[in-house]
Amino acid sequence: MTWLITGGAGYIGAHVARAMTDAGERVLVLDDLSAGFPARLPAEVPLVQGSSLDGDLLKRVLAEHAVTGVVHLAARKQVAESVAQPTRYYQENLGGLGTLLEAVAEAGVKRFLFSSSAAVYGNPDVALITEDTPCAPVNPYGETKLAGEWLVRAAGRAHGISTVCLRYFNVAGAAAPELADTGVFNIVPMVFDRLTRDEAPRIFGDDYPTPDGTCIRDYIHVADLAEAHLAAARRLAEGDLQGDLTVNIGRGEGVSVRELITVIGEVSGDRRPPLVEARRPGDAPVSVASAVRAAETLGWSARRGVREMVESAWRGWLLHHGK
Ligand SMILES: NC(=O)c1ccc[n+]([C@@H]2O[C@H](COP(=O)([O-])OP(=O)(O)OC[C@H]3O[C@@H](n4cnc5c(N)ncnc54)[C@H](O)[C@@H]3O)[C@@H](O)[C@H]2O)c1
Repeated sequence: MTWLITGGAGYIGAHVARAMTDAGERVLVLDDLSAGFPARLPAEVPLVQGSSLDGDLLKRVLAEHAVTGVVHLAARKQVAESVAQPTRYYQENLGGLGTLLEAVAEAGVKRFLFSSSAAVYGNPDVALITEDTPCAPVNPYGETKLAGEWLVRAAGRAHGISTVCLRYFNVAGAAAPELADTGVFNIVPMVFDRLTRDEAPRIFGDDYPTPDGTCIRDYIHVADLAEAHLAAARRLAEGDLQGDLTVNIGRGEGVSVRELITVIGEVSGDRRPPLVEARRPGDAPVSVASAVRAAETLGWSARRGVREMVESAWRGWLLHHGK
């Protein structure tokens, strides 16, 4: 198999490229470098700089490299930006996916893995989110992921492509400091950023119906997530998948915002008490994955805990931002 990883120079994509290469898979990356860095890639992985919106380029790359499977991570991922610029998100995330799927169908590629998100669920009022929990995204980013899944499945049916959609929960950590997330859009880097600015971490609401009153999330180490991609790619390569597979990628365990901030304080040595502010609109009290289907269908379960995520993310933060 030869795998094309789109968005492979990004935070998660570079982890996937490394995990697949380490496992002996042949991999190449396509990335427009709008948010990615070539230095994240192993030296042996070829990088094509270009966009998932460029159909001619995609067709050329698939043919020239005799690609047999695609892992599609390239996307815009900032929720607030998607609210402000919905047409751009639909165009880049869905348009890019449609263009890629056309090229994939034309090239006769029969295996496709799509990077989806827990954002497809919106804010369901359930203790554990299973893949059958109804999807009701609450922002354009989540909508592009849900519509993306529909498109992937429809194209799979139409062209005989086996497809897997992985719905990631809250991704954190780094397999190596140089692979860390350099953006400040998720809670772990946001707390690091506050501490680096000599400011207390913020908690948005401590009156939720949870044991300590703060929101509960399911955090997944990016190295575990990369291993889930490898497991899914292997499942696709075996060729015995009937139709499509949609799988949550989480630990199946909730951690509250207050608990997470406590761990960050222990790891960073900066234990200043958090500031409690008003709730943010749209935050669900609890979002935790059922991890059963991933274990059953991919033979994959997360191995790394929250402390390991925070410690590895902190090493990456110090490398990129200093303190
Ligand atoms: N980080 C998370 O917590 C999280 C959670 C759920 C889902 N996801 C999804 O995982 C995927 C990767 O996320 P990430 O955190 O690594 O983000 P990232 O921004 O670090 O990586 C995205 C990569 O895609 C590239 N890219 C963007 N648009 C492109 C295009 N049109 N053509 C080619 N390359 C393009 C960027 O340059 C970047 O390297 C995205 O699809 C995202 O929606 C991320």
